[in-house]
Amino acid sequence: MAEQLHLNAFIFPAGHHEAAWRHPATQPERIHDADYFHQIARTAEDAAFDAVFLADMPVLTPNVAHNAVGGLEPITLLASIAAATSRIGLIATASTTYYEPYNLARLFASVDHLSKGRAGWNVVTTVSDLVAANYGLDVYPDAADRYARATEFLDVVTKLWDGWDEDAIVLVRAGGATPTSRGSTRRITPVPASICADRWTCRARRRAARCWCRRARRTRDAPSRPGSPR
Ligand SMILES: Cc1cc2nc3c(=O)[nH]c(=O)nc-3n(C[C@H](O)[C@H](O)[C@H](O)COP(=O)(O)O)c2cc1C
Repeated sequence: MAEQLHLNAFIFPAGHHEAAWRHPATQPERIHDADYFHQIARTAEDAAFDAVFLADMPVLTPNVAHNAVGGLEPITLLASIAAATSRIGLIATASTTYYEPYNLARLFASVDHLSKGRAGWNVVTTVSDLVAANYGLDVYPDAADRYARATEFLDVVTKLWDGWDEDAIVLVRAGGATPTSRGSTRRITPVPASICADRWTCRARRRAARCWCRRARRTRDAPSRPGSPR
């Protein structure tokens, strides 16, 4: 079988070379412009690249006198690129040292849903005192601490993603307008629509909903006695 080459476009907003932003063909003034990234991602997608990749250091580096620095938060940017592309993989860098597992699991899960399964995570532990200062630390944690946290972090995040089965959410939409045998549409008391976390809860809720409907119909169809309120 022929081997297949995988290609990943590592987008560095102002170019990978320190002085790339000074080249007349580059567009450093567009590093906060979503269309700029959409164009690059679409070009990569049309050229059959597997993924686009966004690096990250959560800090504004002080070399602003020599480079076009700054940049958009990568997971937010991925969500935007997701809407402008249809097939290409979307990888963002995020730090296990400074995020909390639940926040990050939720962010990537959201991008994964928005992109129909195209999200990827470049796991880093972030080696920078400048970044550490943004999170109230004097220096970045040593390697043993960063990697111990990263290992547990990955375990928690993957468990969060796998916490529910694919088919665990069952929408129970009961009540509302119901056609009757007379061909008209009568209102019965609506039962709250619900989203159940697991099949057992769903079954219990469906039973409760059926019960509720029967009770509502009995009340509705009961002959009223003279003088009793309807
Ligand atoms: C292609 C590539 C991209 C990387 N991108 C980032 C990045 O965006 N942010 C970051 O903090 N580290 C990045 N790194 C750094 C590594 O994740 C790692 O922290 C670094 O190699 C130091 O290794 P250590 O953590 O074992 O000391 C990147 C490394 C490579 C090879």
